[in-house]
Amino acid sequence: MNAAASPTITVALLDPSGGQQSASVIASDRSLKLIGIASDPTALVDEVAKEPPSVVLVDTRALPADALLDLTARLRDSTAIIVAGDAADGALLSHAIRAGARSLLVRPYEPDDLLSVIHEVAGHATARAQRRMGSGAVVITVYSPKGGAGATTVATTLAVALAQAHAGRVGIIDLDLRFGGVGIALDLRGQNTITDLLARSGPLDPGLIDDIFVAHQSGVKVLLSPETPALADSVSPEALAPLIAALRSHFEYLVIDLPTSFDDLTAAALRVADRVLLVATPELPALRDVQRIMSIAPELRNGRSQVVLNRWPSRSGVPLADVERALGRKVALAIPSEGVAVTRALNTGISLLDRRAGLKNAGRFRDLIRLVTANGGQA
Ligand SMILES: Nc1ncnc2c1ncn2[C@@H]1O[C@H](COP(=O)(O)OP(=O)(O)OP(=O)(O)O)[C@@H](O)[C@H]1O
Ligand SMILES: [Mg+2]
Repeated sequence: MNAAASPTITVALLDPSGGQQSASVIASDRSLKLIGIASDPTALVDEVAKEPPSVVLVDTRALPADALLDLTARLRDSTAIIVAGDAADGALLSHAIRAGARSLLVRPYEPDDLLSVIHEVAGHATARAQRRMGSGAVVITVYSPKGGAGATTVATTLAVALAQAHAGRVGIIDLDLRFGGVGIALDLRGQNTITDLLARSGPLDPGLIDDIFVAHQSGVKVLLSPETPALADSVSPEALAPLIAALRSHFEYLVIDLPTSFDDLTAAALRVADRVLLVATPELPALRDVQRIMSIAPELRNGRSQVVLNRWPSRSGVPLADVERALGRKVALAIPSEGVAVTRALNTGISLLDRRAGLKNAGRFRDLIRLVTANGGQA
C-alpha cells in the first residue's frame, strides 16, 4: 500500500570502485531496484540497451571527461542520468548538465541526498509524462481530520522543497478558508485571496496569477485564504474543479492545504487531486478517528493517497506497527518532532528547509518530495 511496496524505479551504476556504497544505500529503499553495476562505459551502454533503467548514476571517476559527456549525450533519451563528482569537477558537471544529465551530486553527500535525487529525477520523468498527456500540474492535497496534526506544516514544507527544483512553477492554495495557516507558516500577507481569483471572469493569464498569488522567497506562489472567515462561504465546491483545471497549465506542482472539516469543498479538492497526503500523529485514539474517516471517504484510501506520520517517534513510544494496525494502512513517511527548530522558523518567518532553521531532520521533511514525484510514490 505504500511507496515501499512497489519497486518501480530501476537504477544502474557506472562506478570504477564497484559502487558498493551506493548499492547498499539503494538497497535500503524498497521502492528502488538496482539492476546493474558497470565498471566501464561499454558495459553500461550494453546494460542500458538490454533493459533501460529509470535512472543511471555515473561517477566522474569512472571515465575521462570527454567520454563522460559522450556517454551522457548517448544515453540521455533512454534514461535519466545523475552525475556524481567532486566540487573541483565544477566545469565538467555543468558541461554534463548541458549534455543531458538530469541532476548532479557533489561529494561528499549523505545517503539521503542520493535517495532524494534518484526519486526526484525519476519523478521528473513522471511529471513530464503527465504534462505530455496534457494534464498539466500534479495536484497534491494535504489533509488531516484532526486539528494541529501538521497538515499545514507538511503542505508548506513540501511546496518550498519542490520549488527548489521548480522555482516559479510551484503553487500552494490555502483552502482552509476559515482558519488558514499557510500565510502564517510562510510569513506572507497579501491583499488578494482565492475569492478574488474566483470573482474574475475570463481566462487566467500569467499576469493575473502573479497579481493574485503572493510570491514567497523560495519561488512558491501562494494563494492565500480570505482574511475574514465570513468570506469562506463564497467559495462553492462546484467552482473548485474548474479553477484547478485552469490553474494546472500554469504550474508543475499545485499543493492544496485543507481544513480539518470533511465538507463538500474538502471532498471536491480530494477528488481533483493526483496525490493525497493524509497527515496523522501517533496517538492511538486519534488514529482510530483517522481510520474511520478513511473508511467513509474513498478519496482517502485509494491508490493516490499516502499516510504521513508527523511527530514520530513520540514520547509515549507508540511503535510504528501499532500505528499502522490502528490505521489499517502502511505509513509512507514518518517525520520526527522538531519543536524548537519549527517554532524558531515560524517566529522568524524562515522555511523549515532553510539551513538557519537548524532542523536536525531536514532530510525527512525533504523526503516529502519523494512521495509526490516518484513513480513508486503511488500507494
Ligand atoms: N514535526 C513537527 N515538529 C515540531 N512542530 C511541529 C511539527 N509539525 C507541526 N508542528 C507545529 O505544530 C503546530 C500545528 O501544525 P500545523 O499548523 O501544520 O497543523 P494543522 O494540521 O495544519 O493544524 P490546523 O488544524 O490548525 O489546520 C504548528 O505550530 C507547527 O509549527
Ligand atoms: Mg492547517
